[in-house]
Amino acid sequence: MPLLQVEKVSAGYGDMQVLTEVSIQVSAHEIISLIGPNGAGKSTVMKAVFGLLKPWSGSITFDGGNIAGLAPYEIVKTGMCYVPQVANVFTELTVEENLEMGAFVLDDADVDGRKQEIFELFPRLAERRRQKAGKMSGGERQMVAMGSALMLNPKMILLDEPSAGLAPRVVDQIFESIVEINKRGLAVLMVEQNARQSLEMAHRGYVLANGENRVEGSGQELLNDPQVARLYLGG
Ligand SMILES: Nc1ncnc2c1ncn2[C@@H]1O[C@H](COP(=O)(O)OP(=O)(O)O)[C@@H](O)[C@H]1O
Ligand SMILES: [Mg+2]
Repeated sequence: MPLLQVEKVSAGYGDMQVLTEVSIQVSAHEIISLIGPNGAGKSTVMKAVFGLLKPWSGSITFDGGNIAGLAPYEIVKTGMCYVPQVANVFTELTVEENLEMGAFVLDDADVDGRKQEIFELFPRLAERRRQKAGKMSGGERQMVAMGSALMLNPKMILLDEPSAGLAPRVVDQIFESIVEINKRGLAVLMVEQNARQSLEMAHRGYVLANGENRVEGSGQELLNDPQVARLYLGG
């Protein structure tokens, strides 16, 4: 039984259908990369999984329970967290305050212990713990966003384009920290424009196009597939 099972989910906005029977599975301890052209529906999948968008049909189970139709705050309590593509930090709060906000929904959280773990994972954040997040670089802000999500001690993290807009060296750092997060036992479902690099680190990947599943396989299989390379990896 996979940790996350998205089964034939259709969804959209208003009466505009975006997703048609999308299926995705994520096992505990897997890194899964979701790739595909702009507008394919990748972010919409993330929003449906995290309860920001109610599926029209299909099922979503997480850790053995049905989560389709639950609100995000309820889904968080089941052990899933989500880092959206934009506006993912409180710019007027310090790094440390952002982390504390991350744990806010849990009443019994060991906040100090969690903070220490996040600072070990992102030493840069420890150094700058009293800086306002809005004054930090794009890469550091992404670390704050991921750190805040990890404050919940989740089983799984959803990352929507964690490397968007970052310089190549910073992209490498973010990807390294994703591998490290996974090594600490979390499942990762990530959406990436940086498709080639994300497939290199993913255990498996899914290509989504026009709101539908197109191809799936191990990261290597997708990288070696000439058609995937031509259509979705820029040759
Ligand atoms: N909040 C929204 N309201 C209406 N349409 C939306 C909204 N968000 C996304 N869409 C539309 O849904 C489709 C899929 O978008 P999205 O899931 O963001 O794609 P991707 O993340 O793969 O680039 C696009 O046609 C987009 O214009
Ligand atoms: Mg998107």
